[in-house]
Amino acid sequence: MRADPPLLEARDISVAFGSFRAVDGASLTIGKGEIIGLIGPNGAGKSTFFNCLAGDRQPASGSIRLRGHDVTRASPEDHARLGLARSWQVPAVFDDMSVRDNVVVGAFLRHKRASDAAAVADRVIAFTGLAPIAQSRSGSLGTPARKRLEIARALATEPEILLLDEALAGLTPTEVRAAIELVRRIHAQGITLVIVEHVMEVILSLADRAVVFNQGRVIAEGKPRDVVQDPGVIEAYLGRSLSRKARA
Ligand SMILES: Nc1ncnc2c1ncn2[C@@H]1O[C@H](COP(=O)(O)OP(=O)(O)O)[C@@H](O)[C@H]1O
Ligand SMILES: [Mg+2]
Repeated sequence: MRADPPLLEARDISVAFGSFRAVDGASLTIGKGEIIGLIGPNGAGKSTFFNCLAGDRQPASGSIRLRGHDVTRASPEDHARLGLARSWQVPAVFDDMSVRDNVVVGAFLRHKRASDAAAVADRVIAFTGLAPIAQSRSGSLGTPARKRLEIARALATEPEILLLDEALAGLTPTEVRAAIELVRRIHAQGITLVIVEHVMEVILSLADRAVVFNQGRVIAEGKPRDVVQDPGVIEAYLGRSLSRKARA
């Protein structure tokens, strides 16, 4: 009997911008049901690596398999059909459309009939707490609602794995708590998550496994609490205040 392939497997991914290697031989294997926290300083290559995983950028070298399929050079749509959805660090919603219509766009990936897509969208809108503003113009929303809308649109594609790129950045502590709660409910639906996040408390409270990026490479990986106390990680870039917080 063969074991199931990992949900997502990225091997030796490299991306160069001119002579600068933004991602430099990074590998990551993601099992079904995990919540992985991807951390690292600004410019470490996290978003560029995410873009490769989602098909939004082709790596110069390396390979990516999604549910056993080679998707290294596949389009974002192919990734989405295979069950991968992502949010952007800078929300990429259609400003002139209503919140509901933005979510319907996501649902059209799997449903050709407008009524079916609308039914999925309404379910996702209720799930993400967007019902009170479903008819608002998306361009009129503030940051927390835009970030939530991005997540809703991704969920409307009915993904098996969801990549969130700083979906909680710029939120107040109260909004962060609400967003953490939403991530937990998404996970409880059986969706695997990879989250890029700067706020360490978020990683510590949500992630099963932390993967630390620095200068385009994975420099540490393990239980979040162990990783943030790893002297190499602290010395490299996280700062001593963080190690104190992790011990507290
Ligand atoms: N399209 C691009 N063209 C040139 N340089 C880029 C581009 N995208 C990202 N970079 C550079 O690559 C590095 C990694 O960026 P990024 O992946 O956004 O890091 P992170 O998400 O970890 O902050 C940074 O130095 C950034 O300036
Ligand atoms: Mg980024």
